[in-house]
Amino acid sequence: MTDVVKPHGGVLVDRVVDEARRKEWETARVREVVLDEGTLADLEMIAVGAYSPLTGFMVRDDYVRVVGEMRLADGTVWSLPVTLAVDEETARDVNIGERVALKGEDGVVYGWMVAEDVYSVDVRVEAVNVYGTEDTAHPGVSKLFRRPKWRVGGPVWLRRERDRGPFSRYWLRPGEAREAFARRGWKTVVGFQTRNPIHRAHEYIQKCALETVDGLFLHPLVGETKADDVPAEVRLNSYEALLERYYPSQRVMLGVFPAAMRYAGPREAIFHALVRKNFGCSHFIVGRDHAGVGNYYGAYDAQTIFSRFRPEELGMTPLFFEHAFFCKRCEGMASAKTCPHGPEDRVTLSGTRVREMLREGLLPPAEFTRPEVARILVKGLRVRL
Ligand code: ADX
Repeated sequence: MTDVVKPHGGVLVDRVVDEARRKEWETARVREVVLDEGTLADLEMIAVGAYSPLTGFMVRDDYVRVVGEMRLADGTVWSLPVTLAVDEETARDVNIGERVALKGEDGVVYGWMVAEDVYSVDVRVEAVNVYGTEDTAHPGVSKLFRRPKWRVGGPVWLRRERDRGPFSRYWLRPGEAREAFARRGWKTVVGFQTRNPIHRAHEYIQKCALETVDGLFLHPLVGETKADDVPAEVRLNSYEALLERYYPSQRVMLGVFPAAMRYAGPREAIFHALVRKNFGCSHFIVGRDHAGVGNYYGAYDAQTIFSRFRPEELGMTPLFFEHAFFCKRCEGMASAKTCPHGPEDRVTLSGTRVREMLREGLLPPAEFTRPEVARILVKGLRVRL
C-alpha cells in the first residue's frame, strides 16, 4: 500500500477479527447488544479503517472532548461523536472488561466489543455543539433525542460485513481504494461526498478540482439518509449513466460510503474530509452548505470551520467552492467568482424543488441536471414521464 496521504492518526486501523479469535468467540455465550442501522454502519467503518484512528466506540474522555472541542482525548482532530447507545438496563448490567456481542436488527452477530467505559450523555449539549440546534425538526437532532442516553465505549472487532446488495460492486475498503489509486498512478486524489444525484453544479466543481489533481474519487454516501432524499439505489444508476457519458474513465473512480448521513453541516464536513483522507484522498471538495439541511447552517460555515485547525492537523487539503450555477449569458457553469451577470441570467433550483419536480415526473432544465440523469431519476422514483 502506498501512503501518498497518510491515514488520520498515521495508521490505517484494521479491526477485522482474526480467525482464531472468531472461532473462540463465536461459541462463547456473552451479553448481546442490538445496533441500529447507523451504528452498525459505524462498527463496519471503524473496523475497516474508514474512521482511523478510532478503534472502537468512544469512551467518555474522547466523547466529551469531541463534543466540546472537536478533538479526541489525545488532541487528534475529530468532529463527530461515534458512540454506541444502550438502554438503561444494559448500562446498569454491563461490567467493565466484559466482551459484548454486537448484533444487527436482523439478529446476526456482526462483531464484538470489550466494554471499557459506561457513561451517560447530555443530549442537549451534544445537539447544540454538534448540530448547532436543539430543534427536533433537524433530522440529526431528532435521531439523537430518540436514542437512549447511555453509552458503552471500548474497542471493537468485526466478525462480518453486511451484504452490500446493489452497492457491492462499488464498495472498496479504505486499503483497497488506496491500492486502486496507486495502481492507476494517482498521487493526488480529490474526494467528493454526495447524498444527491449529481447535478451540473456538482459536475462543475468536481471537474474544476480534477483539473489540478490526478484523480477524482466519487464517493456518494449510500447509508441511511432522511426519507425525502433520493434513495441511494436510484442515485447509483444515475452516477453510472453520468460517468459513462461525461467523465474520462481513466481519471475517475466510483466508490460508495455506506455510513449514515448526520446532517451536521460544518462538523460533518470535517468528518467527511478526514474519512476520505483515510480512503486515500489528498484533497476533498467542500461546496455550498455541505451536509446541510434546512436553514440551520450558513452557506459557507462548512468551509470556514476548517480554519480552526492547522493544515498539518488535518493532513489533507480541502478545496472550497462557491455556489455554482449555469449562467445563460456566459453559456456555461460559473459561480459569483467567475460570472459578472445577475440572478435573472442564472439557472438555480433548490434541492427541495428539484425533488418535487422529479417526483411529479417533471424533468428539471438541462442546465441544472443532465437529461440522461433526470430521466433515470424520474423513472427510479416511479412517477410518470
Ligand atoms: S451533502 O449533504 O452530501 O453535502 P450534496 O450532495 O448536495 O449534499 O453536496 C455534495 C457536495 O457538493 C457538497 O460539498 C456541497 O457543498 C456541494 N454542492 C452542492 N450543490 C452545490 C452548488 N450549487 N454549488 C457549489 N457546491 C455545491
